[in-house]
Amino acid sequence: MMEGTKRQGTEALVNLAARRSIILPAFSPYGELGGFYDYGPIGIRIRHNIESTWRRHFIEAMGNVEVDTTIIGPEIVFQASGHLGNFSDPITVCSKCKTSYRVDKLLEELFQGKGDKKSVDRVKTSRLPELEQMMVDNGVKCEKCGTPLKKADTFNLMLGTSIGPMGGTSGYLRPETAQGIFIDFKNIFRNLGLKLPVGIGQIGKAFRNEISPRRMLIRMREFSQMELEFFFDPEEKELIINGENVGDGFLNQRVNFVTREMQLENSGKDFIEITLDEGLKNGYIPNKLFAYLMFRAGEFMDRLGFPTDSFRFRQQLEHELPHYSKGNIDVEARHDDGFEELIGIAYRTDYDLSNHAKFSKSDMSVVNGEKKLVPHVVEISFGLDRIFWVLLSNSLRKDDKREWDLLLLNQDVAPYKYAVYPLQKDEGLVKKAQEILKGLNANGTYSYYSLSGSIGKRYAKSDETGIPFAITVDFTTLEDGTVTVRDARTGEQVRKSSSEIR
Ligand code: GAP
Repeated sequence: MMEGTKRQGTEALVNLAARRSIILPAFSPYGELGGFYDYGPIGIRIRHNIESTWRRHFIEAMGNVEVDTTIIGPEIVFQASGHLGNFSDPITVCSKCKTSYRVDKLLEELFQGKGDKKSVDRVKTSRLPELEQMMVDNGVKCEKCGTPLKKADTFNLMLGTSIGPMGGTSGYLRPETAQGIFIDFKNIFRNLGLKLPVGIGQIGKAFRNEISPRRMLIRMREFSQMELEFFFDPEEKELIINGENVGDGFLNQRVNFVTREMQLENSGKDFIEITLDEGLKNGYIPNKLFAYLMFRAGEFMDRLGFPTDSFRFRQQLEHELPHYSKGNIDVEARHDDGFEELIGIAYRTDYDLSNHAKFSKSDMSVVNGEKKLVPHVVEISFGLDRIFWVLLSNSLRKDDKREWDLLLLNQDVAPYKYAVYPLQKDEGLVKKAQEILKGLNANGTYSYYSLSGSIGKRYAKSDETGIPFAITVDFTTLEDGTVTVRDARTGEQVRKSSSEIR
């Protein structure tokens, strides 16, 4: 991130998001419903750019394929996936006013507020009875009515619906996009003549009836995921991606890592540095494909603009593992005063395919070369909204030259590359600016245009909304065809011929 700039807190981002309609609370004229947000015009352009970066990096560059499967599924699908039985979070309900809270998050926020990092980490390693004890020991009270909170329970996060006019079939909104991929896998593999290992990806909505949705896009009830299910033969030693042997070179990659031991010892360290090879040899990383997806995840974070010291890989503790997992590592990025999970990587084994085979009574095995097998899966699952939000919060800066904030985004994710501004409301300037704008748009560099407010206010607007360059059309432009190009990072301007701008 740029030197000489200071990171702004999340509060500044919340203000900016509201002021520029980047993110809007859904249904706001009716009062807010927790956990639902809309993306405004600037926000959706940034989000689409994150999606395109992901698609290029994880689908196209790796020779994988993408699908779009349904959001609602019949009950049996989620019985098979294990979500109806297992997908729950710890809840506490106020005995007086019935307000409910997610216990672990309530405690984490309490300790974070006290700057007690060790206790925040202890919450993460604790199970239900310990969480209950912590509530009592710390005199945690209902935020609404002040009644002490004592009892904790588990709450299933699935959102249900009924399908058909008479409500004959009960269904659920998917809690992850993955299940549709597992169900369609065999068909796609066979009909497209695919070979293992291969990834099938999907970008789409997921729904969870979160107990206490909070912190804007961090914990929502309707959110978007970008998921890649990577199917492979667990007995195959070589890793072939897109027709090429990947080799072992990538295993020398150094990563910021948090082991289980570090968490259980309450080490207080943000991370240690290890190579992926060390991670594999020490048993932190379940297999080579898993390590390779970690490597690609690091590259992806870099492409989005996360500096290396702003994110880490955290090995999940035994009791945190989802019901389908034989090993999970999260990618967490710095956010507020701690780290936030953005990406989950899971070794799902053949859990999902085998369970769908059992519940649907259909064969889920495929023929790969000479061998018939039910493939194993390593999944890499990205929370799109969290990536969006944490990227913006890491990118919102302030320097001492300007009174307003700067959103310093990489060109890959910036909402527009250029803002085109006539210096003032003058017929000749407006005509020329429109001409330049149309030229850029016709060449595929869709650009932003504004005539409202002083030029200083318009610079502030493009700086704040992450547009890297502002092109200003002034009276010299009318004489010699040059414009000023202002770099949002430095505020410096150079004169250039408008025909050179791409
Ligand atoms: N298919 C695996 C899966 O869904 P997960 O760790 O539960 O794994 C993956 O979710 C990612 O989705 C998380 O790393 C997080 O970024 C995002 N995510 C999960 N719950 C979310 C919520 N309530 N609001 C926003 N993002 C969420």
